[in-house]
Amino acid sequence: MTALPFPLADAPEPDAAERGRKLFAGPIEFLKGVVAMDGLPPDDRVEICFAGRSNVGKSSLINALTNRKGLARASNTPGRTQEINYFTLGDGHYLVDLPGYGYAEAPVKIVARWQSLLKTYLAGRASLRRAFVLIDARHGVKPVDEEIMSLLDGAAVTFEAVLTKADKIKPKDRERVLAQVRQSLARHPAAFPEILLTSSETGEGLATLRAVVAGLA
Ligand code: GTP
Ligand code: MG
Repeated sequence: MTALPFPLADAPEPDAAERGRKLFAGPIEFLKGVVAMDGLPPDDRVEICFAGRSNVGKSSLINALTNRKGLARASNTPGRTQEINYFTLGDGHYLVDLPGYGYAEAPVKIVARWQSLLKTYLAGRASLRRAFVLIDARHGVKPVDEEIMSLLDGAAVTFEAVLTKADKIKPKDRERVLAQVRQSLARHPAAFPEILLTSSETGEGLATLRAVVAGLA
């Protein structure tokens, strides 16, 4: 098997970057927290979601992208986001902050409930345009990530890998983790053929991610 290259995304062209900047500088509002599939809002917008292991930085990334610190609640406690949180961005997008999968500091029964909702959502939301699967740049793809990526393959939901916490990885470890991520993505037909490298701390990669989202309109 020849592995696809899965390059790191190039910096956006100036007009694409500007569209992304404008989109994320515009109005963004928390719409609702959903706890069951029948609570999902009407599928009348371009919908993108942020999925990933507990604590990988999903909520922080939404805050950083939108430059609004307390918008999505971020925390040191894995398992902080426990509902499917919908945000409206401009008048054409939904941004969706998902509960983390894998380890969570919450009662087993509650965790089981939100994990099952998460999977039903990822596989069953027809209007989901792209899932961003966040992966800690220090740790690479873990078995639980593989499980979610396979679920997205099965549902034919295109997903794009976003490495988070780029500020925490040493240059000498970066290529090794990238190689591991590439090897994993090459096994997933629903993987979009590029990787984003981001830091919510330094802002690295955020303009690129904003441009990708704006480009989905
Ligand atoms: P759950 O909702 O529990 O699934 O977690 P989450 O994926 O939403 O993670 P969250 O955004 O709450 O961040 C978890 C921790 O990682 C927090 O302490 C953040 O401050 C930290 N963090 C998130 N992004 C970054 C980053 O880019 N760099 C660094 N250094 N820390 C980050
Ligand atoms: Mg969260």
